[in-house]
Amino acid sequence: MADNRNREHWGGSLGFVLATAGSAIGLGNIWRFPYIAGQNGGGAFVLIYLAMALLIGLPVMLSEIVLGRRTQRNPIGAFRALNPPQCALARWIGIPLAVSGILVLLLGQWGWGILILGGGLLVLRKRWTVVGLLASAAAFMILSYYSVVGGWTLLYMGRAALGQLAFADVEAAKTAFGAAVTHPGQSILFHLLFMGLCVAVVFAGIRKGVERWAKILMPALFAMLVVLVLRALTLPGAMEGVRFFLAPDFSKITGRTFLVALGQMFFSMSLGMGAVIVYGSYLQKDVNLFRTSSAVIILDTLVALLAGLVIFPAVFAFGMEPTAGTGLVFQVLPTIFGQMNLGALWAFLFFALLMVAAWTSAISLLETIVSAAMDELGWARHKATLVSGGAIAALGLVSAVSIADWSRIEGLHRAVVALFTTAPDSFFDLMDAVTSNWMLTLGGLATCIFVGWIWGTQRAMEEIREGSGGIADAPWLSWAAGLHQDEHYSRELPGKLTLALLWGVFVRFVCPAAILLVFLNAIGALGG
Ligand code: TRP
Repeated sequence: MADNRNREHWGGSLGFVLATAGSAIGLGNIWRFPYIAGQNGGGAFVLIYLAMALLIGLPVMLSEIVLGRRTQRNPIGAFRALNPPQCALARWIGIPLAVSGILVLLLGQWGWGILILGGGLLVLRKRWTVVGLLASAAAFMILSYYSVVGGWTLLYMGRAALGQLAFADVEAAKTAFGAAVTHPGQSILFHLLFMGLCVAVVFAGIRKGVERWAKILMPALFAMLVVLVLRALTLPGAMEGVRFFLAPDFSKITGRTFLVALGQMFFSMSLGMGAVIVYGSYLQKDVNLFRTSSAVIILDTLVALLAGLVIFPAVFAFGMEPTAGTGLVFQVLPTIFGQMNLGALWAFLFFALLMVAAWTSAISLLETIVSAAMDELGWARHKATLVSGGAIAALGLVSAVSIADWSRIEGLHRAVVALFTTAPDSFFDLMDAVTSNWMLTLGGLATCIFVGWIWGTQRAMEEIREGSGGIADAPWLSWAAGLHQDEHYSRELPGKLTLALLWGVFVRFVCPAAILLVFLNAIGALGG
């Protein structure tokens, strides 16, 4: 296999775990998970989420890590290195796509037609390398708008430090937030500052940049979170919030709840767009992949749960409405902090937490693109970082300006409408919908099929075994049952249930089926 001897590697598995957890722990954990859980059955949803993380998250994360470590390449290079010379499946997908593209063109839908036809031809020509291209494009697009939000967290951190977040009520906070994000100059300035922080870390490389900062920022994040949880839980009336978040309500569980949980888990674990492949590509052979991937999943889930224990106790203690996303984080919470003793301190801690979470995720997105530029174009790290950082920052400008007003970029807005006959409220929303509904789920689905069926679980398992100290093949079920010395379950007995077998079955059947359902749900194909 293409062993890339000059490739930089992590100093140790702790660096890898913290950096990957840093990628996973982001806005999704803090502003999305708590609300989704509270709305969808509280503790009942959390149980489903935990099952999804273990049954789908873990096998897919293992698949992405193993692709990276095996090939020692960025996602494009990884899929290219393992791409089969012929692939019937690629033809079965590519030809119908190309044909439908032509039909759509004949119907006069230019935008969709070109996309579908182009996609079909690309699949026919490049086969599985397309997955790597899709992943890198997704990383590029996500970072461009993620960094706009990152800019807001920086802005609010600064405002908290200056004691400017004391609002009389949510209306006032809403007006202030609206004014901040629709002020193009300010949005742009903080977006650029945030991108600058990401560029600075990635510029310094894996050990001196990404790993070093993960080891500083992640412990800081945990410390801030614990302090905030303690503060929130000791507020009078906090228990009502805990109840909203965690009290199980099984009547709210429907088939769709499972899809919501799985989609959230996918986004939260940074799966499906190559970030984990890239971090895996900096791993040494002596690292236990089972142990490290479980650690990442546990940390990410823990932070999502703790974030809920900060937000809802505070919201309910102050009699506020639990809402979602931007409104909750930038409007309701600042109002609450303003009414607390030492409010500026708590506000600062909270926005610092949010900023650090966004920063370490953004670093992994930038590293995904930088590693592609280095491997594929042969650029040096410094050049790759500056050029891709600059290009992403430029695309982010469009997102930042579009939130204020699409009409400022009239031409672009009209082009989107003309090509696709619809356009979301802003370029920002367009980027978000395309990447999280389409690219991320398709990327995850393709990754499972590739590892499970094309490259094959056989070869993947050989790589996973390395450094895993026999855990893949241990007869854990007979150990767990206390029957490992029973002669029926001795090592020679065929059919013992090992982690290797479980993983193979999940990657080939369970994960792709589950992700396919999430995808169909996300694009609205399941109705309702
Ligand atoms: N996991 C991140 C969050 O919870 C968001 C995210 C999704 C992401 N895919 C990613 C981050 C890929 C980095 C790389 O907010």
